[in-house]
Amino acid sequence: MKKIIVIPGDGIGQEITACAVKVLEKIDQKFNIGLEFETRDAGGTSYEKFGTPLTDEALSACKNADGVLFGAVGGKKWDSLPVHLRPEKAIFGLRKGLGLFANLRPTKVYPELINSSPLKPELVKGADLLIVRELVGGIYFGPRCESETKDGVEQAWDTEIYSVPEIERITKLAFETAKKSRGKLTSVDKANVLAASRLWRKVVNDMAKNYPEVELNHLYVDNAAMQLVLNPAQFDIIVTNNIFGDILSDEAAVIGGSIGLMPSASIGELTSLYEPIHGSAPDISGKDKANPMGTILSAAMLLRYSLNRADAAQAIESAIEKTLDDGWRTPDIFSDGFKKVGTNRVTEIICDFI
Ligand code: IPM
Ligand code: MG
Repeated sequence: MKKIIVIPGDGIGQEITACAVKVLEKIDQKFNIGLEFETRDAGGTSYEKFGTPLTDEALSACKNADGVLFGAVGGKKWDSLPVHLRPEKAIFGLRKGLGLFANLRPTKVYPELINSSPLKPELVKGADLLIVRELVGGIYFGPRCESETKDGVEQAWDTEIYSVPEIERITKLAFETAKKSRGKLTSVDKANVLAASRLWRKVVNDMAKNYPEVELNHLYVDNAAMQLVLNPAQFDIIVTNNIFGDILSDEAAVIGGSIGLMPSASIGELTSLYEPIHGSAPDISGKDKANPMGTILSAAMLLRYSLNRADAAQAIESAIEKTLDDGWRTPDIFSDGFKKVGTNRVTEIICDFI
């Protein structure tokens, strides 16, 4: 048996993970993987039940799982809680607790949706890239000070720290991924200003010696942000630190037309976690409006990376393409001339295509 821990979280997280489980059940009937599901809470939902956004029990259940499928957390209701009780804290608890050091965020422009892209179709045509973001280091986890007084003036600070092993670990994964992809790796940093970026670049260049077959280039993050909208098709694999990856992956996510379609994988040493890029969208929660495709495609990544079932992953990805090709659209990607469907119906259609 392969045990999957499902963490629906808050808002639309509940509905979209239920859809992804339905799709995985359909896949299991067809491919006989022996999937077993268990649910745990996180975020505001966990805070309401247990007084904490992530319980130790939930974390240890994840540690022992073959994979974790995560929905989304957050909502207005919990925005005024102290930082350590806020829903986002569950995300950091899982990232750090499971050692999820690499976040993979693919951006693909589906030909069927090219007109939903905010960019001109001729610019985004053929874009198919993957951002490999370092996820448990850098300024997100460095020492910080919320408030102190210096020379009678209040100030606050955060710290960007990267060690050689941390950079090596993410870089190695990025080179391996590039090798299996189209053989091109772009490392993004701010080495003209930041010391941590200069070390980053040095380690990436050292690692490159082990991968002569991969073509490597370096971009400063400001230029990378510009290149992503000027010519996204130039990229294959992008590797970068935690904060630059956070920013660039949102930018990349919309190139394809809808953030509702974008999956992600957070790879760890014990287990890995899969979640859509979008948030908990409390405004549309419970209304059968959410697009479950990002979560369903995340489930496909789980099959590919954690269970080594590229065949089953491919079956999901083609079912999504067929659903789009057949004209079915959830409200986020709907335009005139297409068939509008809700969260549940689109899931049934995807299942039928499997
Ligand atoms: C993401 C999100 C998180 C991050 C937030 C919710 C803390 O933006 O996963 O990209 O910044 O990492
Ligand atoms: Mg982000």
